[in-house]
Amino acid sequence: MMVEIWVVTFPVSRHLISVGQTWLDADETARLTQITSPIAQDRFVACRTVLRTVLSHKMQCAPTDFRWKYGASGKPELPGAPWGFNISHSGDFGLVAVASSAYIGVDIEGLSDRRNLNAIARHVFHPDELAVLESVPAGNRARFFYDIWVRKEAVTKWLGDSIFQVKQISVLDALSSPAQVVVDGRGAAWVLPLRISSRFAAAVAIDAAGVPECPTPDIREWGDSLLTTTVGY
Ligand SMILES: CC(C)(COP(=O)(O)OP(=O)(O)OC[C@H]1O[C@@H](n2cnc3c(N)ncnc32)[C@H](O)[C@@H]1OP(=O)(O)O)[C@@H](O)C(=O)NCCC(=O)NCCS
Repeated sequence: MMVEIWVVTFPVSRHLISVGQTWLDADETARLTQITSPIAQDRFVACRTVLRTVLSHKMQCAPTDFRWKYGASGKPELPGAPWGFNISHSGDFGLVAVASSAYIGVDIEGLSDRRNLNAIARHVFHPDELAVLESVPAGNRARFFYDIWVRKEAVTKWLGDSIFQVKQISVLDALSSPAQVVVDGRGAAWVLPLRISSRFAAAVAIDAAGVPECPTPDIREWGDSLLTTTVGY
């Protein structure tokens, strides 16, 4: 199995944005008009453009050939395509994850101890996760919180659900080393951390069906040179 994580560092070039804007479909254009912050608009366009570029290289088609289908909770997918994919963006970084023949979920979050982490955790953490969080020294609490959060969010996004639906799933086993997380009736995913920056937590969940060994993602820095070799452009 091949898993690639494309790391997009913001701000991206105006060239990427201006090319990407011409590739947006009607749904994406409508989404763009609902995003009020110009910075968030650029992040949305940049990640969709990187996704279209990477998939067009994999599938040898034009980046405008894709017709996304959206799941019940909004996950964009290409049913029947040989590549699964997912996007996450936070602060300085966007991640575009692609996996050959597998559902995948990815999440990145900037570390912040300004929010009431314990209160948020009570809504989404499993009781075992909550018990550990409450025992962690205050100075390590933000790191622990986000390490759990991104693993749960990656599992959520692998499933195409919402974060509140994974409250009953503990990801503690995947904290110190990659591990399979089993979701009753939905299968299992390999869950592993991604080391992007010391100020961020990030993780990926990769469908484990027929994948006995945990895949090692190939982490790549996005550069606009890939854009210039895109099929049809
Ligand atoms: C999508 C969700 C799982 C993660 O959101 P987030 O951490 O704010 O955002 P991220 O940057 O990590 O991910 C956003 C990307 O994931 C993808 N995505 C959207 N919904 C998704 C879902 N349900 N599952 C997987 N991926 C999803 C999209 O590509 C999106 O990128 P885009 O803005 O370019 O379209 C979260 O918002 C959620 O739970 N959504 C479901 C809707 C819901 O139940 N909301 C609760 C409101 S109370």
